[in-house]
Amino acid sequence: MIITHQPVMVDEVIRYLITTPEGVYVDGTVGTGGHSVEICKRIAPQGELICLDIDRTSIQVAEERLSSFGQRVRIFRESYVDLDKALEGIGIDKVTGIFLDLGMSSYQLESSGRGFSFIKDEPLDMRMDQDTGITASQLVNTMPRERLQALLWDYAQERWAKLIARAIGEERRKGPIRSSRQLARLVEATIPRKHHPRKRHPATKTFQALRIAVNRELDNIADFLEKAPVLLVKGGRLVVISYHSLEDRLVKQAMRRWERDDMHPERLPVFPSTRPPLMRPLSKKGLRPGQAEMNINPRCRSAIMRVAEGI
Ligand SMILES: C[S@@+](CC[C@H](N)C(=O)[O-])C[C@H]1O[C@@H](n2cnc3c(N)ncnc32)[C@H](O)[C@@H]1O
Repeated sequence: MIITHQPVMVDEVIRYLITTPEGVYVDGTVGTGGHSVEICKRIAPQGELICLDIDRTSIQVAEERLSSFGQRVRIFRESYVDLDKALEGIGIDKVTGIFLDLGMSSYQLESSGRGFSFIKDEPLDMRMDQDTGITASQLVNTMPRERLQALLWDYAQERWAKLIARAIGEERRKGPIRSSRQLARLVEATIPRKHHPRKRHPATKTFQALRIAVNRELDNIADFLEKAPVLLVKGGRLVVISYHSLEDRLVKQAMRRWERDDMHPERLPVFPSTRPPLMRPLSKKGLRPGQAEMNINPRCRSAIMRVAEGI
């Protein structure tokens, strides 16, 4: 059975993203369609929604859930990094709003069978796009130990990175690490018991770092943010929900940069024709889910939403 994802901060997403029901909107990470269903309800019957995701199974679920909205919704298996190309392919130059809900979905964690969860025993894959890239298993079995250590530190600030990388190096000499449980147990046995975190599994950070690396999550968000401003109409909104401080930092910094460019026109390229449209953040601080939502959906606790508007 496929577990669909409980969408996070839906009211806030709708409030900030939809400036007019007649607009063309993008859900760049449609997942199993939770946010998209709500966006469609608010923009029907005039508005349009373009959905992207790289996960084949999630897209199938989203297609089914969104089918009742007919041709107002178009779904593509495409990375949000290539949103510009996807829009060009359907003859759209600019859109009214772009929404990204980063991280992984409950479906991927709990029922994709791809080793995202340290609780289950599954092949250690962790690719969101099942058809390209290297798997987490390939990564842990081939990456030089020092790079593995750096990866665990850089992407998850795992203070036991050195010990874990060493343990992985020793384990893989006996034979390849193939399953999520095999890795989870290895990490659990490596971190001294008295330092095990109280509220989460000791392998949480290792799994997070590997997932980020396998899916190039930080590179993707950085590449997308370079392109985002030119894809929005004046007054159009970019709404991004992050679940990780490194992702959020990239979003926050991009939004500040766009704003600075606005205040200092001399920083802009010389030729007006190449001048990027500018954006301004709609709130200085990121928005957080309310307590009521956190009580119902504890997974939303780490969510932070940022919004910028084309000016
Ligand atoms: C948190 S989930 C989105 C959940 C969705 N908002 C919902 O309500 O069902 C994040 C989604 O982003 C997708 N994703 C990750 N990297 C992507 C990329 N580069 N391009 C498009 N989708 C991506 C994942 O496959 C996953 O389905």
